[in-house]
Amino acid sequence: MLELLLPFFLLGLFLLILFIIWRINARKYISSGTVASAYDAWTQDRLLERLWGEHIHLGFYPTGNRSIDFREAKEKFVHELVKWSGLDKLPKGSRILDLGCGIGGSSRILSKYYGFNVTGITISPAQVKRARELTPSGLNCNFQVMDALDLKFEDGSFDAIWSVEAGAHMNDKNKFADEMLRTLRPGGYLALADWNSRDLRDHPPSFFERLVLKQLLEQWVHPNFISINEFSNILRNNQNSAGRVISECWNSYTNPSWYDSIIEGFRRPFAILSLGPLAIVKSIREIPTILLMNWAFRKGLMEFGVFKCRG
Ligand SMILES: C[S@@+](CC[C@H](N)C(=O)[O-])C[C@H]1O[C@@H](n2cnc3c(N)ncnc32)[C@H](O)[C@@H]1O
Repeated sequence: MLELLLPFFLLGLFLLILFIIWRINARKYISSGTVASAYDAWTQDRLLERLWGEHIHLGFYPTGNRSIDFREAKEKFVHELVKWSGLDKLPKGSRILDLGCGIGGSSRILSKYYGFNVTGITISPAQVKRARELTPSGLNCNFQVMDALDLKFEDGSFDAIWSVEAGAHMNDKNKFADEMLRTLRPGGYLALADWNSRDLRDHPPSFFERLVLKQLLEQWVHPNFISINEFSNILRNNQNSAGRVISECWNSYTNPSWYDSIIEGFRRPFAILSLGPLAIVKSIREIPTILLMNWAFRKGLMEFGVFKCRG
């Protein structure tokens, strides 16, 4: 009898240890400094980059074509957002600010395929260092450490502002919108993609959903989530926006990314194994959060919002 129960006991113990590591190492938002340290660590251990490539965002999976690779889907996402937001109408040489640029995946595509002159900013010094290393000298991209809530650029410095999956890390969404629209020239383009919650005032979360949201905030340094409508209103009411804001929910295009991000570990096992045993523990540690994200986005508790407007 004892021998029969042993595998269940060991599995239970393994899950308990995993849960304890997951909770103890939660990356709770305290200030933009905690966001910087989290991304510095994610960049320096190279695990994310080896596994998921140079884009730290979800992929775009066209309806009816789920067979594309995760990395291909991420590049496709950039081109789809360019098309949807109208950035492709801008001439070569246009000045673009990539706000929350990661290690420069989007910046390089915007420069290489569209001929833009891109400035990428991120709160993480390690990401700036890596973005510079990854950028060939011929590309018109430069990277700086800067806080998106305190941009050191003159009013109207850019023809377009591009920001992908950075807003959920900002504790003040009004200031985030203010800074983007202040540095955008009149008539310029804003293209933004972000993680949003559904409207929690109209549809309050159940007890279980509240627990899930708490984990999603605390695991990946998010201070708060707001809904697509709330952020659209913030943009619409800003003194520097031309008023017309268009938003959509892209859950159906991006949701396959969650399982794909786990499958990628099996497709490229050496990406993890070659970084040593700690990398294996670190990868397993992210799986519960990815599964919770997948659940929340599929159930509509979370929404992948895209936004466009003109300055
Ligand atoms: C999920 S990553 C997305 C990176 C990049 N946009 C991409 O798609 O590959 C979020 C990015 O936002 C940046 N970020 C978060 N808070 C920031 C802040 N207050 N100021 C500047 N960058 C910030 C992080 O450093 C990180 O580069």
